Amino acid sequence: MDVTSLQRRRALIEAARDALAAPSIFNTQPWTWRSADDWLQLWADRSRQLRATDFAGRQLTVSCGAALHHARVALAAAGHQVQVDRIPDPGSPGLLARIAITGAHVPTDEEVALCRAIGDRHTDRRAFTAEAVASRVLSELVAAAERQAAHLYPVPTEQVKVLGAAAAHAEAVHQADPGYRDELMTWTNRPAESGDGVPATTAVTPTARAVPVRDFTLFGRGHSAGLEHDVGARFAMIFTYGDDVVDWLRAGEALSAVLLAATVAQLGCAPISDVIEVRATREQLGRLLRGGGHPQAVVRVGHPPAGGSAITARRAPSEVINP
Ligand SMILES: Cc1cc2nc3c(=O)[nH]c(=O)nc-3n(C[C@H](O)[C@H](O)[C@H](O)COP(=O)(O)O)c2cc1C
Repeated sequence: MDVTSLQRRRALIEAARDALAAPSIFNTQPWTWRSADDWLQLWADRSRQLRATDFAGRQLTVSCGAALHHARVALAAAGHQVQVDRIPDPGSPGLLARIAITGAHVPTDEEVALCRAIGDRHTDRRAFTAEAVASRVLSELVAAAERQAAHLYPVPTEQVKVLGAAAAHAEAVHQADPGYRDELMTWTNRPAESGDGVPATTAVTPTARAVPVRDFTLFGRGHSAGLEHDVGARFAMIFTYGDDVVDWLRAGEALSAVLLAATVAQLGCAPISDVIEVRATREQLGRLLRGGGHPQAVVRVGHPPAGGSAITARRAPSEVINP
C-alpha cells in the first residue's frame, strides 16, 4: 500500500469514529464499519435490530443513514472529496454503503460548522420554549433534507393536532405490545460499560404538550420535561417518494442533515419515530402529504430551555470499526 492510500484509509477510519456520535433508534448504534481496499464499508448490524418495534428494519436503516451522513460531513470538513455508493452489492444486502476518497476538497464554512455540530447535537426531550423558530431557519432545514435526496414537510399549526393524536395512539399501540415493552426494558437498562441504550438521565416524564414524546420513563426513571410546553416548537416530517432500503438510507442522511443544521442554528432538536413504527399512524401522517410520499421520521425543533440536555454514551470504536 502506498502512503497516499494509507493516509486515505486513516481519514476514512477517522470519519467512522466521528460517526459514532450519530443518533440511532433506542441508541442501538446498529452498524459496523469495515475498511476494505480503498473503501470504507457501512454494514447493518442486524443483531441490534429491534424485532418487535422495527420489524422491517426501517428504523435500523434510517439510523445507519444518519451514521453515513455524519461520516460524509466529517470527510468533507477534513478536506476530502468522496464517492459514495449505496447498496453497492445487491448480493450482500447487509452492506448498505461504501465510501472512497477520490480527491481533495476545499471545505465550506457550512461544512466546517456542520462537522462541529456533530459533537454538540444531542436529543433533547425537554419541552422547548415559546420562542418561535424563524421561518428562515425552517427553510434552511427543508433545503438540508433536499440536498440528501429526501424531503422535509414542516407540519402546519393546524395539523399539529393530528400529529399529537397520532403520537398518543402510537404510544398506546406500543405499550399494549409485550415485545415492544421488552425491547424498551432492554434498551433502557443497559450496563454502563455497553456504551449504548437510552439512559434515565435523558428520559423525561410525560407532561401536557402538543405532541407527546416517547415514554422512556419506566418505573419512575427520568426527570422533569421542564417548565415549558413546546409552544414555539415546530414539527417536520422527513419523507421520500419511494419506500425501499435506499429511500430509508437517504431519509437517515436527511435526518442527520436536519438535526445538524438545527444544531448549527442553536436550536434544540429531537427525532420522533413511534408514529412511523405503527402502521396506522404512519398511514395517517402520509395523508397529510398532499403530493404523496412516505413518512420516514418526524423531528421536533425549537428553542431549548437553559441548562443543556443530557449526553448519551457511545460504544467503543474497536467494537464498531473493523470489529
Ligand atoms: C431513526 C431514529 C428514531 C428515533 N426515534 C426516537 C423517538 O421516537 N423518540 C425519542 O425520544 N428519540 C428518538 N430517537 C433519538 C435516539 O433515542 C437518540 O438518537 C439516541 O438515544 C442517542 O442519543 P443522542 O441523539 O442524544 O446522541 C431516534 C433516533 C433515530 C436515529
